[in-house]
Amino acid sequence: MKTDNLQKLRADRVWLTEDACDLGDFRDLAEKTTLLADYPNADSVEKNVLIYDSRKVVAAIADPEGRRAVLAEICEAFGEGPGVVVFKGAYENTSIIDRASKIFDEIIEEQHRSSTGGGDHFAKPGANDRIWNSLEKHCLADPENFARYYANPIIAIASEAWLGPSYQMTAQVNRVNPGGAAQSAHRDYHLGFQSSKVIEQFPAHVHKLSPVLTLQGAVAHCDMPLESGPTLFLPHSQTYVSGYLALKRQEFKDYFDKHHIQLPLQKGDLVFFNPALFHAAGTNRSADIKRVANLLQVSSAFGRAMETVNRERMSAKLFPALKKLKGQLSETDIVNAVASCAEGYSFPTNLDRDPPVGGLAPKTQAQLMHEALKEGWSDEAFAKALADQAEKKLT
Ligand SMILES: [Fe+2]
Repeated sequence: MKTDNLQKLRADRVWLTEDACDLGDFRDLAEKTTLLADYPNADSVEKNVLIYDSRKVVAAIADPEGRRAVLAEICEAFGEGPGVVVFKGAYENTSIIDRASKIFDEIIEEQHRSSTGGGDHFAKPGANDRIWNSLEKHCLADPENFARYYANPIIAIASEAWLGPSYQMTAQVNRVNPGGAAQSAHRDYHLGFQSSKVIEQFPAHVHKLSPVLTLQGAVAHCDMPLESGPTLFLPHSQTYVSGYLALKRQEFKDYFDKHHIQLPLQKGDLVFFNPALFHAAGTNRSADIKRVANLLQVSSAFGRAMETVNRERMSAKLFPALKKLKGQLSETDIVNAVASCAEGYSFPTNLDRDPPVGGLAPKTQAQLMHEALKEGWSDEAFAKALADQAEKKLT
């Protein structure tokens, strides 16, 4: 009898189920108030969301001690804090955004003309326009604008705060046209994109692992008043471990519909949030605002990103642009731009052909790019070295 009980308790601990989700337990965790005093670098708390003034963040990270403190603060804001942070004025120079918007418009027009583009798993056809893998398409279309765009220090600091270094950037543009309907409340990749039947097969520690494998972000490409439908969030909801399963249940959906919050954004603001936060894009009730956001999904070096990205092709294209921008971009800007482009991690590789030199890990694509920039390689020499490195990784 005692053994049976032990076995049942253990199985219930390890195997989370949709049936066992409890709204009362969820409310005990998620109904918290975000206290500004806990986040000394933040500017304010609005609707339970932390608001940072990007200029102050950039000033605070200028010295190593300040940087360490800010990274830790943002890390905890995503973890046990509200799970969502707005960085106001992350792009002071919004002409960088405008140029990127123009590139995205052209890509969307081309998709319409050629009837390409993969559609959207969340929306009805025509309600919105998507650019999958906007990261690579942006880089190939205008590497100089890509460099300025991803040189952004807030993108780098938020990504590193949650994921550590060597993160893998991916991005998708979502343009929601007037009338575009809201998404249903969800969590994001990895477990967020699976059915209950699949989710229930993963032990509880994987439910805790999934949120630290990615970070969600959005760059506001236009002003987004509430009527245009900026993202709906439920702060603190990421702390409920069974949340991937809970969102399949009606009472949790109803709770989200009743309690979610929404913040207006201005062009150049950045929002980052824990992928396990309950959220959904809002309905665009405006008459004439095409709500455009570039959605960043940043993956841990140790995870599998959602999209395939040809980082070799991107790096070969970005390299000449970075050489040209030397003097205009700071060293940190260049490091940030490279981090969003080149592969920053050594594995997987073929250790027969790509042995580690002077350590345990072979040279990364990002390291190769920094070396080439420092030593002023020709574009051809760098492209050849990239190809040779990629070749070594093959079996
Ligand atoms: Fe999402």
